[in-house]
Amino acid sequence: MRDGKEQKQQQKIGVIGGGLMGHGIAYLFAAAGHPVGLFEPSADIRASLPKRLQALVGLFGDDAALLQRIETHDQMAPAMRDTKFVFEAAPEKLPLKQQIFAELEAVVAPDTILASNSSAIPSTEIGRHLTHRERVVGTHFWNPPHLVPLVEVIQNEKTSDAVLRATMDVLRDAGKVPVHVRRDIPGFVGNRLQHAMKREAFALVAAGVCDAETVDTVVKEGFGARTAVLGPMEQSDLVGLDLALDIAEVLYEHLDRTAHAPDVLREKLKAGKLGMKSGEGLRKWGPGEADKVRARLSQFLVDQAKARKAKA
Ligand SMILES: NC(=O)c1ccc[n+]([C@@H]2O[C@H](COP(=O)([O-])OP(=O)(O)OC[C@H]3O[C@@H](n4cnc5c(N)ncnc54)[C@H](O)[C@@H]3O)[C@@H](O)[C@H]2O)c1
Repeated sequence: MRDGKEQKQQQKIGVIGGGLMGHGIAYLFAAAGHPVGLFEPSADIRASLPKRLQALVGLFGDDAALLQRIETHDQMAPAMRDTKFVFEAAPEKLPLKQQIFAELEAVVAPDTILASNSSAIPSTEIGRHLTHRERVVGTHFWNPPHLVPLVEVIQNEKTSDAVLRATMDVLRDAGKVPVHVRRDIPGFVGNRLQHAMKREAFALVAAGVCDAETVDTVVKEGFGARTAVLGPMEQSDLVGLDLALDIAEVLYEHLDRTAHAPDVLREKLKAGKLGMKSGEGLRKWGPGEADKVRARLSQFLVDQAKARKAKA
């Protein structure tokens, strides 16, 4: 070992589930030099993994040899052998995740850190019945996890400070941007911000103020154009808190406060309008249009990831 960083990078990482999130998480740790043990119970998903991982090699222009660091297993115990961290990316069902964590506790060392990638289920609940609850932590990656830098690291009431620090470190060393979320609350930070905006967007369209296309244009061509380099707190400081207060005093009482899921979503579902996959959702998607949006997003994220890698 040359230095502390290299030593850390040799720590074996376990990944539970090789689906959409799991294969990306396995890839990013392997690309950072870690041996990875991946447990995936579905034979079909296991069979699809080499092709999906190979596609990521192509995306980044990486050396395909890094894939040799990923071992895939149909059983949990051999995949998790000697792991220092386990990232769970199994389906979003509490009883399943609780069962997985109970099985994990039986096969890993007592100090192996157990992290859940749940989008919404508190890790407090996932780890509730474990003996060593101090090593359970939430790590909310964003899709696709190999391209979006942010990982919210959620400290629940039992997570030790040492576990929090080690988790932040291993993610940072792998090139991610981890942030510390101090309370295990629904939606953590990112999804609360995202959904506060969506609630207002649904309300504006429902009230006939503008159509769905206009909402997207306002975000992408307006404040969204600067959001990647200027967060809302920085922006408030930039314009001055005197102006921020004046605006809040006039505006906040008019913002939507609906405390349930928007009616428009139920209505659309009833009509079979599920979005791009059914050709219509909040907007209409003609032939090829949805694919163009997907390609645009993918290209943008890849360009950003490559630019970050080049700078690092
Ligand atoms: N998809 C997203 O955008 C996204 C974003 C952030 C977080 N998440 C969270 O990540 C987790 C995984 O989501 P996903 O989109 O990758 O789902 P997915 O369905 O693509 O993958 C889940 C994988 O887990 C496997 N699996 C099923 N039972 C298992 C078990 N008992 N043990 C191990 N693996 C098992 C499945 O075969 C499948 O391959 C969920 O908790 C989800 O909420 C998803």
